[in-house]
Amino acid sequence: PIILSDKEFLNHEELHYPFEERGLQFGDGVYEVIRVYDGNYYLMEEHIDRLFRSVEAIKITMPYSKEELKGLLQQLLEKNQVDLDAKVYLQITRGSAARDHAFPVDVKPNFYAYAQEFSRNLPAMWNGGSVMSHPDHRWDWCYIKSLNLLPNVLAKQEAKENGCMEAILHKDGVVTEGSSSNAYLVRDGKVYTHPAKKNILHGCVRMRVEQFCDDLGIPFVEEAFRVDDIQHADEMFITSSTTEVTPVTHFDGKKITTGSPGEVTRKLQYAYEKDAG
Ligand code: PDD
Repeated sequence: PIILSDKEFLNHEELHYPFEERGLQFGDGVYEVIRVYDGNYYLMEEHIDRLFRSVEAIKITMPYSKEELKGLLQQLLEKNQVDLDAKVYLQITRGSAARDHAFPVDVKPNFYAYAQEFSRNLPAMWNGGSVMSHPDHRWDWCYIKSLNLLPNVLAKQEAKENGCMEAILHKDGVVTEGSSSNAYLVRDGKVYTHPAKKNILHGCVRMRVEQFCDDLGIPFVEEAFRVDDIQHADEMFITSSTTEVTPVTHFDGKKITTGSPGEVTRKLQYAYEKDAG
């Protein structure tokens, strides 16, 4: 693939990272994952806005304007002849300098982005899957889409080893979100999810789900729920750029109602499909 590295386009083999790189050594950087459907970016504005918020929060000076970055990302699709479904990964780190915890003086941020073919996993999205609860060991600032993903990686691996598609993270029993997704519960026709505070990632799909609920007359309640509430839920689902809206059928080995995707979840899946299509 052709990679966008700073403002240049390179063959991926030409991308060399120095041994002292703050993204590698400290996780000192942030990232985004953006979906492409039929050669068009989906929720581009939302992702770019969030990237700029993340960058500002960790005091990196963005080397581009939003417009410039959007133009470069467009060129990335053209150079790779992406005209179908793909995902684009982008990351920006504080840069390369002699290893020191404090910010090096005059360091220049390192940026790269690449596109990868990626198609919708329709059976997984249609049938849904099982999830398990897991303590949320992350820091207080999960609204920053940081490269430090060790707690997320460990939680996801544990889920995988237990035959689950996702780990649902909780702090003292209060569900925050999934290891790489936002989490929702449906009860009495209302959708509940953790408020967009600093301790969760403000998902771009979450923002759209709020809009879909508005359009469909489904109350969207930003009120955290507890692990114990899930046994009384009518439905549960997760969202992310990669999994879209995916039903949760089993939680900690127990069926959620009948153990099949619920009606509200289906409506939101159709709304997503219409919006992204
Ligand atoms: N992750 N919460 C966490 C912790 C996430 O990592 C993600 C996405 C989301 C959903 O955000 P969005 O709707 O903007 O994709 C919520 C991406 C897909 C990843 O790390 O691969």
